[in-house]
Amino acid sequence: MKDIKNICCIGAGYVGGPTMAVIALKNPNINVHVVDINAQRIAAWNDEDLSKLPVYEPGLDEVVGQCRGKNLFFSTEVNKAIDLCEMIFISVNTPTKTYGVGKGMAADLKYIELCARQIAEVATTDKIVVEKSTLPVRTAQALKSILKNTGNGVNYEILSNPEFLAEGTAVEDLMDPDRVLIGGDETPAGQEAIQALATIYGAWVKKEHILTTNVWSSELSKLTANAFLAQRVSSINALSELCEHTGADVNEVARAIGTDSRIGPKFLKSSVGFGGSCFQKDILNLVYIAKSYGLHEVADYWEQVILMNDHQKRRFAANIVKTLYNTVSGKKIAMLGWAFKKDTNDTRETAAVYVADELLNEQAALQVYDPKVPEAQVFVDLDYLNSRAAADNKNYVTVQQDPYEACKDAHAVAILTEWDEFKDYDWQRIYDHMKKPAFVFDGRNILDIPKLKAIGFTTYSIGKGNI
Ligand code: UDX
Ligand code: ADP
Repeated sequence: MKDIKNICCIGAGYVGGPTMAVIALKNPNINVHVVDINAQRIAAWNDEDLSKLPVYEPGLDEVVGQCRGKNLFFSTEVNKAIDLCEMIFISVNTPTKTYGVGKGMAADLKYIELCARQIAEVATTDKIVVEKSTLPVRTAQALKSILKNTGNGVNYEILSNPEFLAEGTAVEDLMDPDRVLIGGDETPAGQEAIQALATIYGAWVKKEHILTTNVWSSELSKLTANAFLAQRVSSINALSELCEHTGADVNEVARAIGTDSRIGPKFLKSSVGFGGSCFQKDILNLVYIAKSYGLHEVADYWEQVILMNDHQKRRFAANIVKTLYNTVSGKKIAMLGWAFKKDTNDTRETAAVYVADELLNEQAALQVYDPKVPEAQVFVDLDYLNSRAAADNKNYVTVQQDPYEACKDAHAVAILTEWDEFKDYDWQRIYDHMKKPAFVFDGRNILDIPKLKAIGFTTYSIGKGNI
């Protein structure tokens, strides 16, 4: 296999952008082209001002700043990039289907299929096509069948190279991954393609950390990794409710079980519920695949992880209503945090929007503040739920640029995202400008509860209850 000199990535989102930036940084001899049909997004990637990149990730501005214009390029010229590059990553979105068979469960593969058709139409030389988006098992088969039936004599090798980076720590995860997984065909050409990609990662990742498998194992491993992680969060969240009833403290329980080396300390932070573009989608996918093979017990088992997560979001909102004397109608409630976790501007499947929705059903007046999420996104997320008219969302929700403004005259403050800055606020000042009694509902277990109580707040913390 000849050396790869040009790589392109179709899709300049949360996965494609950071991944390609790090590949470019570590492989100065390879030109990396990131292309997207969204011209606005590409313009933002090309913005002189690195604080305006469309994806917020700590450290990403620095990496992009070092490579952009040298061997890292962002453009909307998808066809040109396909034609030029020997290796093409597909990193387009695969949301859960909102229509037809598999609605609400199966992954919508229309963007992937469009990409494959575009590659088939444009390519005149052999290509290695790499699936980067999270895909249901056996998508590679569909890609292969579209690409190989074009009859123009171009050879394609399909690789699965799932992304394990977590948002908020993407650059760190990419620089020092636990493992890189590459799945490919067991044929000599497939093995050669695997080696070509392994060489690119080999520029900075130790050989022992690059795992190679067949395509199907690689695809399924991605879904499974996310399902296991989400299951841990749902498990600790299930126990958080039990703790609230028994007087146990969920943090202490998490610490006690986390020190068991067989269990380990990670992913045991109890929360208002997991969010993000992957967990729910991937588990639903797993459930859908299991069902399609008639494996109903397997499907039910994994579906419970989602049901528990839905319950956790709903009970957090219900507790706010109950604690505020069973009515929040017309009451101001400050929501601190809208992103699905800290250090990202991504709001996909964020718990915050579901909690907001429940509170809006009770006619609360919401004041939202998030350090990185723009006002327009909050309304896009609320309107997407389709629970009420967009005009009503506008009437009942205000997005503030300043956290102290958001908390002013509020009956309660709810923490939805674990942003570090929330811990450092002047909580006395917040208290002074709130309605009394002043309540804090900590959905992330990040605040210093004894300190808040000393100020005069009435507090609730996930897994500790009303204290
Ligand atoms: C996840 C996987 O970690 C990553 O490997 C995969 O490629 C994509 O999906 P991401 O969605 O970015 O990454 O975030 P992650 O850090 O996994 O958190 C997911 C959700 O679980 C967040 O809402 C987070 O707040 C929540 N969470 C996580 C908890 O509530 N408690 C925890 O202990 C850990
Ligand atoms: P992820 O978190 O998986 O990276 P995003 O939604 O952030 O998902 O990014 C996916 C990107 O893929 C979007 O910017 C979207 O415009 C782009 N995209 C989708 N379909 C195509 C296509 N056919 N050609 C080019 N870009 C595409």
